[in-house]
Amino acid sequence: MKESVRILMCAPQHYDVDYVINPWMEGNIHRLSRDLAQEQWNQLHKILKDHATVELVAPQPGWPDMVFTANAGLILDHTVVLSRFFHAERQGEEPYFQQWFADQGYTVHTLPKGLPFEGAGDALIDRVGGYLWAGYGFRSELDSHTYLAKWLDVEVLSLRLIDRRFYHLDTCFCPLNNGDLLYYPPAFDTYSNHLIERRIPTEKRIPVNEVDAVNFACNAVNVDQTIIMNSASDGLQKTLAARGFKVIETPLTEFLKAGGAAKCLTLRVTEPRQDSPQASSIQSRMVHLEGHLLDSGIVNRALDTIVSGGGSFQVLHFDLGAQRQDISTADVKVSAPDGDVIEDIMGQLVDLGAVVTSEDISPDAHLEAVVQAGVAPDDFYVTAIYPTEVSVNGQWIKVQGQRMDGAIAITQTPDGLVAHCKLLRDLQIGESVVVGSEGIRTKRTTTTLKKKSTEEFSFMGAGVSSERRVELVVEQIAWDLRRIRDQGGKVVVTAGPVVIHTGGSEHLRHLIREGYVHGLLGGNAIAVHDIEQALMGTSLGMDMKRGVSVHGGHRHHLKAINTIRRCGSIANAVEQSILQSGVMYECVKNNVPFSLAGSIRDDGPLPDTQMDLLQAQADYARLIEGADLILMLSTMLHSIGVGNMTPAGVKMVCVDINPAVVTKLSDRGSLESIGVVTDVGLFLSLLVNQLNKLTGEYARV
Ligand SMILES: NC(=O)c1ccc[n+]([C@@H]2O[C@H](COP(=O)([O-])OP(=O)(O)OC[C@H]3O[C@@H](n4cnc5c(N)ncnc54)[C@H](O)[C@@H]3O)[C@@H](O)[C@H]2O)c1
Repeated sequence: MKESVRILMCAPQHYDVDYVINPWMEGNIHRLSRDLAQEQWNQLHKILKDHATVELVAPQPGWPDMVFTANAGLILDHTVVLSRFFHAERQGEEPYFQQWFADQGYTVHTLPKGLPFEGAGDALIDRVGGYLWAGYGFRSELDSHTYLAKWLDVEVLSLRLIDRRFYHLDTCFCPLNNGDLLYYPPAFDTYSNHLIERRIPTEKRIPVNEVDAVNFACNAVNVDQTIIMNSASDGLQKTLAARGFKVIETPLTEFLKAGGAAKCLTLRVTEPRQDSPQASSIQSRMVHLEGHLLDSGIVNRALDTIVSGGGSFQVLHFDLGAQRQDISTADVKVSAPDGDVIEDIMGQLVDLGAVVTSEDISPDAHLEAVVQAGVAPDDFYVTAIYPTEVSVNGQWIKVQGQRMDGAIAITQTPDGLVAHCKLLRDLQIGESVVVGSEGIRTKRTTTTLKKKSTEEFSFMGAGVSSERRVELVVEQIAWDLRRIRDQGGKVVVTAGPVVIHTGGSEHLRHLIREGYVHGLLGGNAIAVHDIEQALMGTSLGMDMKRGVSVHGGHRHHLKAINTIRRCGSIANAVEQSILQSGVMYECVKNNVPFSLAGSIRDDGPLPDTQMDLLQAQADYARLIEGADLILMLSTMLHSIGVGNMTPAGVKMVCVDINPAVVTKLSDRGSLESIGVVTDVGLFLSLLVNQLNKLTGEYARV
């Protein structure tokens, strides 16, 4: 027996599964054998007594989980941080454990009320590194880790648990005496796995498989070279033996029914301090939300963003307003395990309209100079599609040229400071770029938020739309097109070659002729297929009238390209009466500007296809400027490109047969997006039909 190691246990006199607070308890209420539990506990107690001094705390009636002493508190040297249980079902254990620690002469710290932390179940000392691995996600709150670092004077490494079965850190993570680590990687999020991999070299990590994990192999007690656990597979036993460990298996099946095993049933009360720098990398920020927060669902989305991003939150203030139409406000404290994670979360919250606040009344944005043309400083704020303002010298400045995936560049002009949304490649030395997320606010209008949450969103939510739903949406789009045209607005169409294959060409031509289209964006293919059809009646060698392939037709599209190349441009071909019909013909005839962006797939290409992609992006951006509506017709490549350069407020209609493409485009956060999952040829024919009806109705009025 090793005198220097002391372990606290609690006899299972009152142990039972009385309630369900973890997945293991489900279906096990009052379904365990008391006698067997006692026998299994006695056996564990006996084994431990051969390796350590075992202390006992008196069990208390009404607190069945007190047997799991690992959750009494966290000890380092002579200091204890007492547990604050997350579930009311266990909170009554706290005073008994507190008394025991006080009687033993420990300095006991208690966490603020409402800040859960479940002791050594969620915090494990690395016996070689001296730092503390601390879990959060189910039972313990991330903010409690800051207190651990302060009170125990230790470096804390926070790990986020993501599998409900492994709700405490000690159910899936066991640092061993020699610096080896027994753990179940899928129980942790990606960030936490990276953190583990950074600290523990590959040769020291012992990942267990799911079978061992669910048999609680990681919920083990390690004293010197002995590891005591419920059970281990042959493979795991061999691995541990090869590293010089002796595994003692002792069945604890009755305790597994409540979600615990060897480690949960013990608390090591001798944890000598090792040299470790006192540090906690936990970062916190305050954010302010304002608007119709509940109606718009913004509060829920903000809190989801924080949690799914690996952070935690405390809502410090939430004012709903007295009347339904009043705006509500909320102040939320956000914490995350380190600077990178918090910045990532902050960026997403700013996109949702949150303002990162600080003690100052008007916190300015942090600016850093561009020192290399075309390269932003690290941590630059990545823009979203929403109207954005930045605070510089106490003044909120509106960002011009809003688009997503840019940086905000601040320049001094004779008229004052100007903020521009710029692509990385356009940044110039001498400009300052906004870094971090403070002093930035984005604006969303309540009307658009409401709209999203009703008609359009439920339409998208339906997945593949029924014919009737398509008709309803088409009616709405027809009205929009008609209104925009009559008010002198601008509609831009992005189209792929599928428009031609599906017989949509005649309808798109009609839209152009009738003045509904004010710009056409696409690639080489839409133009080639359209011209092939106009010159030879085929599209990719298929006879468009008869729907059969034409002998030698596969060469038609190259011949079409060749013809236009001879003319020098599509416009020349129209002028020379070589091209006499089709979508491109109508564009030329009706002075509708078009831009064809090249791609690696292109044949030819046509002389009009812009193979310099930066120039093509600039051409697209110019044609989109001032658009009221963008109709995206079955081209994933060009539609996504267009979506990325379009600011919020421009209505986008995305038509594609693949729901995933529609969802991707409609999910970019724009509240004005409509997704239509259908055949593009059918959509265009319904649209033209509807516009014709509309004209009829107008005519009758
Ligand atoms: N010969 C050529 O030069 C040639 C040929 C093909 C493509 N390309 C080029 O390759 C690039 C990508 O081409 P893309 O935009 O056609 O491909 P893409 O994969 O980006 O998009 C095609 C989209 O059409 C959708 N679709 C398919 N059938 C549909 C239907 N019946 N109704 C509605 N949607 C339907 C698909 O789901 C897909 O999202 C473009 O730049 C294009 O110009 C060149």
